[in-house]
Amino acid sequence: MPKKKLYTGAEIPVVGLGTFGSDSYDAPTIARAVEAAIRAGYRHIDCAAVYGNEKEIGAAIAKVIAEGVATREELWITSKVWNDSHERVAESCRQSLADLRLSYLDLYLVHWPFPNFHAPGVSVGSRDPHAKPYIHESYMRTWRSMEKLVDEGLVRHIGSSNMTIPKLQLLLRDCRIKPACNEMEMHPHFQQPELLQYVAQHGIAAIGYCPVGSPNRPERDKTAEDTVPIEDPVIVQMAQAHGVHPAVVCIKWAVQNGQIPIPFSVKPEKFTSNLRAATEDPLTAAEMNAIRALDRGCRFIKGQVFAWEGATWEDLWDLDGKIKN
Ligand SMILES: NC(=O)c1ccc[n+]([C@@H]2O[C@H](COP(=O)([O-])OP(=O)(O)OC[C@H]3O[C@@H](n4cnc5c(N)ncnc54)[C@H](OP(=O)(O)O)[C@@H]3O)[C@@H](O)[C@H]2O)c1
Repeated sequence: MPKKKLYTGAEIPVVGLGTFGSDSYDAPTIARAVEAAIRAGYRHIDCAAVYGNEKEIGAAIAKVIAEGVATREELWITSKVWNDSHERVAESCRQSLADLRLSYLDLYLVHWPFPNFHAPGVSVGSRDPHAKPYIHESYMRTWRSMEKLVDEGLVRHIGSSNMTIPKLQLLLRDCRIKPACNEMEMHPHFQQPELLQYVAQHGIAAIGYCPVGSPNRPERDKTAEDTVPIEDPVIVQMAQAHGVHPAVVCIKWAVQNGQIPIPFSVKPEKFTSNLRAATEDPLTAAEMNAIRALDRGCRFIKGQVFAWEGATWEDLWDLDGKIKN
């Protein structure tokens, strides 16, 4: 598996396995997929406390390490601190480490820049009645705790997720340890070229979530305007030409576009073809250009549950270049 060098000199595998089961897959099913995926050659697993499956995934990782399928050093394991734990970062990290049965994480991310201090337990799908806008001082308090985890050796890298350029500018101005990665939605219908260029300029790697367009995301996250990248005629035609599923074209595009996609699937034929996408039969320059023209600015993970009173989901994303609060 090809790897991408981070500013620290460490290398991250360019395709990872997502582990958010949406409403469709339970924790044991996902843990079985993680085990099978590592056996099939995956070395990068994208986890999060809020996905509710780290204990099961931890057992799967321990099993493959014990059997000598991969060493701990060969694996890249990411986890994320959830919104209700921004004031308990160390505790949350130690819980993820215990659940995942690891002594360190390769990457620990602040899952969203919107803390829910007053609503512990608010999950990916429930609306927080106390939602607050981004408050930089509060984010930096969280970030200082993240930096401390690096100092203590509990995590090798820290990073951000669901950030915008204005928020990253403030973070880069005030941090002691720069984010190694920013995890963000990216697929052919939502390419975020400015943000991708910004993070690249600052030596931050772009991990792309929903690389296939998250066709099985929860119904609550779907709106009438949403498009379906894997049904886009241009992608479908390219897939036919390459003899692969349109999802695989999306992964090839992501890798060749400099991203680190983390597609989810529990199905071996799918996660194996996604892994091979990074090494086999690349898209041509003409195909890459044709996909570039498909960007529709269509964000699927809008974060509407994090909108504070009187705000809409658009207010979360600083669309006019200014942080709304
Ligand atoms: N940082 C964040 O805030 C954030 C937000 C969202 C997601 N994530 C991470 O990103 C990961 C990926 O995002 P996602 O799961 O929402 O969306 P995704 O990877 O774009 O889409 C996953 C779906 O695509 C289908 N698929 C994948 N590979 C395929 C292939 N080769 N052929 C046909 N279908 C294929 C799967 O179908 P089947 O179910 O039929 O296999 C799966 O349900 C998540 O699991 C999570 O780890 C992070």
